[in-house]
Amino acid sequence: MPGDADVCAHHDRGDGVITACRRGVEVLGVGSFAPARVVTNDELATRVETSDEWIASRTGIRERRIAADDQSAAALGYEAARQALEMSGIDPANLGLIVVATSTPDYYFPATATLIGEQLGATGVAGYDLSAACTGFVFALAQAYGHVASGSADTVLVVGSEVFSRLLDWDDRSTCVLFGDGAGAVVLGGSGSTGGLLGFELGSNGAAGDLLKVAAVGHARNPMAGPYLTMDGPQVYKFATTVSVESAGRVLDAIGMTVADVDVFVPHQANLRIIEHAARRLGIPPEKVVSNVDRYGNTSAASIPICLEEAHRLGRIRPGDIVLMVGFGGGLSWGSCVMEWTTPLKERG
Ligand code: ACO
Repeated sequence: MPGDADVCAHHDRGDGVITACRRGVEVLGVGSFAPARVVTNDELATRVETSDEWIASRTGIRERRIAADDQSAAALGYEAARQALEMSGIDPANLGLIVVATSTPDYYFPATATLIGEQLGATGVAGYDLSAACTGFVFALAQAYGHVASGSADTVLVVGSEVFSRLLDWDDRSTCVLFGDGAGAVVLGGSGSTGGLLGFELGSNGAAGDLLKVAAVGHARNPMAGPYLTMDGPQVYKFATTVSVESAGRVLDAIGMTVADVDVFVPHQANLRIIEHAARRLGIPPEKVVSNVDRYGNTSAASIPICLEEAHRLGRIRPGDIVLMVGFGGGLSWGSCVMEWTTPLKERG
């Protein structure tokens, strides 16, 4: 189905959706938050048979943050959202929409987005959760683009917030060492120019969904399969290294850019080896790659916005930079986004 040519040039291809953005929609503010509790690899090695050497050499992860008992996805997401809104200067009550990408919501309902909206004072603002595992933030950005570009919302708060520590079997060394908790957020709004979001490529392959999953109460066949995350690590690794390169290439093609145009690469932070492999295959030099997986582990839908906030705060992303984001994960799903960064560095209170 062709898109509205004023909003985007888009086509469905059977194996993904490609959108070349035609309306200026930019990041007005960015924020992130992680729980204070740091769990090192050495601490994990006191519980399961593993070592700092094994975890660091296979994944690049040294430590991760783990939520306190009273910290939920809504609580972490609220802190990140508050920062992003403060930077944007937008009154939460004037938001058009709140979308929260999460696989670890506080409740099936009410949506985490409505809980965050309530805490922010965004009374009456529509909010919903989006479930696309580690790709959730990129999917949510695409939705927000559509709302702003079509005129159905002036500003959208997009949050990625996860407490994967609650989905893990802490006696399963093959999964518990990989993940951490955290949240990141951006506020998006229309820009007068064509800067901001430039293109998306999104896709899913349900046939491979069994490779990475967590059963929920609606699961008909084996309700006792959950609540823990299960994963075929080597297969997911193969998928991630392949799809991140292919998806990035497709979105750059669609908007008439090449890898040489990319100033900053912000990949999903699942594993340093996946990130380095993708960057090498794409031909992106290490100095353009943003990674903090060593300090946070895999925070799923929160990983890309946590990186964006950190890179922006440290001056690694500057106005005018072309930023390439690539997400992949459960579904299996993937999504890439190219953006021209327009947000000037502002002090936060
Ligand atoms: N410590 C020590 N040994 C371990 C550990 C551990 N924490 N975990 C597994 N091992 C052992 C295994 O038991 C196995 O032992 P065996 O050979 O005696 O059977 C050996 O290490 C090798 O196991 P593999 O799983 O083959 O190890 P691999 O080199 O593939 O690395 C890893 C595993 C790091 C999980 C890798 O496959 C990977 O990164 N996969 C992708 C994971 C990922 O990114 N998932 C998230 C996607 S995003 C989302 O949506 C959630």
